[in-house]
Amino acid sequence: MTTAAEKNQSRNHEDIEAIEMPLLTEAMFQRYGYDFRGYAAASLKRRVRHAMQAEGVQTISAFQEHVLHDAEAMARFLDIVSVDVTAMFRDPLFYKVLRNKVVPDLRALPHVRVWHAGCSTGEEVYSMAILLHEEGLLEKSQLYATDLNQRALERAREGIFPLNHMREYTANYQKTGGGEEFSRYYTAKHDSAILRDFLRGNIVWAGHNLVTDGSFNEFQMILCRNVMIYFGRPLQERVHRLIYDSLAMGGMLCLGHGESLQFTPHEKCYEVADRAEKIYRKVK
Ligand SMILES: C[S@@+](CC[C@H](N)C(=O)[O-])C[C@H]1O[C@@H](n2cnc3c(N)ncnc32)[C@H](O)[C@@H]1O
Repeated sequence: MTTAAEKNQSRNHEDIEAIEMPLLTEAMFQRYGYDFRGYAAASLKRRVRHAMQAEGVQTISAFQEHVLHDAEAMARFLDIVSVDVTAMFRDPLFYKVLRNKVVPDLRALPHVRVWHAGCSTGEEVYSMAILLHEEGLLEKSQLYATDLNQRALERAREGIFPLNHMREYTANYQKTGGGEEFSRYYTAKHDSAILRDFLRGNIVWAGHNLVTDGSFNEFQMILCRNVMIYFGRPLQERVHRLIYDSLAMGGMLCLGHGESLQFTPHEKCYEVADRAEKIYRKVK
């Protein structure tokens, strides 16, 4: 049973962490330019605790001192904070709806620019390249894949994934309505699946921070899936402004299942193309 003294101690601890967290994010921003000040507090704190454990420090203040003086510790923190969980054809129904509802619109366009904002290690981007290839649209498409995590981007650029993931990715692909042998998209070597070169040709990989960097092109489609879920409300609204400014009229916005345009200032600028799969069309 927790005693009153223990409860008091834990409350004290939380009060101190409530002071330490904003100091930590401010210090990271001042020192490295990474701005986590607007991230959702609870999930950010979980990641800080995880990083503290990995670095062997006891308090957030000690962690702050550690990252301020050691850029490598900051890079390791970035790996933890940029939750890079992803998969090829993640949420297969989303890709099925893209094939059926979005691709017909893309056919009519002279070119297609797609922005994968928060692309992690690239699985989402290569899935799109495969889908566009199968629909005969890859040649006129340019995929811009960005993330704040440079290490994730390096892995993405390589296009080499663990061979043992391919069984899951093949099953996902089949559920999207893909009719090819999935294995034709990669070469197996030892424990790795090396994606075929023709899938990489139309992809531009670049570092881009949704919090601190601006718009850099006009796109016919923007995927920002499972990224804003980690942001606090005001930051989500700022990123929605950036996305809105970067989308062509009639362009499509694709969010993750846990994300929504509802109650954002931009809600009225879009019509719902598919509610369940969180696909929206910019209409004004
Ligand atoms: C869970 S992954 C999502 C990957 C992919 N979009 C998907 O749905 O499978 C979230 C990604 O968002 C990136 N991210 C987080 N904050 C970011 C920011 N401020 N700017 C750009 N990318 C960010 C992380 O580095 C991470 O790679």
